[in-house]
Amino acid sequence: MDTETSLRFQPLGPDIYGATQPQALLSSIQEDGEALHDLRDQHVVSIRPFRAETLRQLFRLAAKFESNPNRYITHNAPLKGKILINAFYEPSTRTRLSFDSAWHRLGGDSINITDRSTTGIAKGESLADVAHMFNNYGDCVVLRDNHAEAVYEMTEALRIPIINAGNGIDQHPTQAMADLFTLFKWRPELAAAEVDPERRVKIGIVGIPNRMRTVRSLLHILAKFPEIVEEVIIIHDPSTNNSDDLFDEGQLEELQAAGLKLRLSTNLHSEIPSLDVIYINAIAWVGDGYEVHGSSFRLTRDLPYKPDAIVLHPLARGPELSSCMDDTPHNWYFSQARGAVFLRMALLTCLVDRTDRVMDVI
Ligand code: CP
Repeated sequence: MDTETSLRFQPLGPDIYGATQPQALLSSIQEDGEALHDLRDQHVVSIRPFRAETLRQLFRLAAKFESNPNRYITHNAPLKGKILINAFYEPSTRTRLSFDSAWHRLGGDSINITDRSTTGIAKGESLADVAHMFNNYGDCVVLRDNHAEAVYEMTEALRIPIINAGNGIDQHPTQAMADLFTLFKWRPELAAAEVDPERRVKIGIVGIPNRMRTVRSLLHILAKFPEIVEEVIIIHDPSTNNSDDLFDEGQLEELQAAGLKLRLSTNLHSEIPSLDVIYINAIAWVGDGYEVHGSSFRLTRDLPYKPDAIVLHPLARGPELSSCMDDTPHNWYFSQARGAVFLRMALLTCLVDRTDRVMDVI
């Protein structure tokens, strides 16, 4: 190794992971701290139970954290003395580490379990009994378990909140919250109580709604805010996914009944010139492994994007999102991952801090 070579790094700045505008989002959302009380004593298993106003106020709190981390985090330490049980039985870079980071930034400590077989589950212990133990060891559980029903089995016995961090092909609610938080920072006027119909956005989703938990949950959260969406276009590769098999029974109808305008397409390139947001994902975690969908799609910098179009991706990425996109203004996927820390801090504070300090933060 050449020890003479300088290894100076460029310090973190807004030019690295996106100059997002949390302050502009703050001004767009009228304060209503009471709406955050809905999160008290709640498990977070899916997006479904949450009101749009509660989510809007959650984004406001996250923007507050992001706009001034030192003031609200270091000084308040709202989770000092509290313990997070971070149980991930499936690989994760972003969700596990960002929850852990969020919890520590709020002053708490954490227990991490990364393998189910290191617990009594390997000896046949029931998930309900594990939940009874968790009640005594921590103040909040974050669970990623590829057995979709596991999170539901634990909720009955838990007396502390559990957050679903991805359960097989089912749900990933905090990813969807982070996705919409990003979108609102990009276009803060969409988070206002009244949205100008002219400002609505056209969103292309390259993914499979009934196989990808990220896409399923994203559609759920968009259905809470149909007024911001001109159209959602689900883009799929017909050589790997039949258009009749993209939605579970009733899934499409539920979204449409909520007011979301949806259309299917198989041609990413022909859609790109009119899209404001391109959300792309190729991986679906199924059982103990993963499926890759839409492998014929690839976003590269030479495509005819709208000048201010943004690309979102829950990551981890494969060839569908070329790294040549990273230094283009379309890259909002890094700020999406960065913002998830502040979004999770806001959520954890609302779920766990019972002192009403959250109102002081607001
Ligand atoms: N977005 C997401 O869920 O990433 P991880 O699998 O790395 O947690």
